[in-house]
Amino acid sequence: KNIAVLLSGRGSNFKAIYNAIETKKIKNAQISVVISDKSDAPGLKFAKEKGLNAFFVNPKEFSSVEEFDKKIVEVLNSFKIDLVCLAGFMRIITPYFVRTYKNRIINIHPSLLPSFPGLNAQRQALEYGVRFSGCTVHFVDEEVDHGPIILQAVVPVLPNDTVETLSERILKEEHRIYPEAVKLFVEDKLKIVGRKVIVKED
Ligand code: GRF
Repeated sequence: KNIAVLLSGRGSNFKAIYNAIETKKIKNAQISVVISDKSDAPGLKFAKEKGLNAFFVNPKEFSSVEEFDKKIVEVLNSFKIDLVCLAGFMRIITPYFVRTYKNRIINIHPSLLPSFPGLNAQRQALEYGVRFSGCTVHFVDEEVDHGPIILQAVVPVLPNDTVETLSERILKEEHRIYPEAVKLFVEDKLKIVGRKVIVKED
């Protein structure tokens, strides 16, 4: 299976997926292309160092978000992409993109959805005072942080947590469940039924 990773920053989730493929925890898959909307994203640099196809697509060169997404879809088509992994890609993708790659785009979000969608999910959780938070890997639909849930992991929120300490605890789980979800997808074990994702047994 051909995987594309879209990112904007650090790229630690991308690295986790990359490592799972390198160490054969995920078989029959390759990262065919990495796309960033930020020229200086450390994730993009890492991709280049590893010799992957890695491109910066400059949003400023496009007259609208639709035109930008058309370009992204063009690149994905040219690499015959089976799965698109959003990994800290800080843009809302257009309905056109979602429809073109329907049920083939997944995202990771640092909260237990449907709680705390959107930006600064860890801060939202702290401010709300929840005792547990976590992360969610989900299929992407036309609403932000909303599509069918593939995997979730729970972490406690501790009394002295800051955004940093909570984020770090959640990130550790992100690095575990994102590659796991990719593996399930690559092995064709995910079936979407309405809002739900059924994980097929062997
Ligand atoms: C992660 O917290 C992820 O859940 C969110 O953006 C962050 C990306 O981190 N969508 P990284 O670039 O993968 O290190």
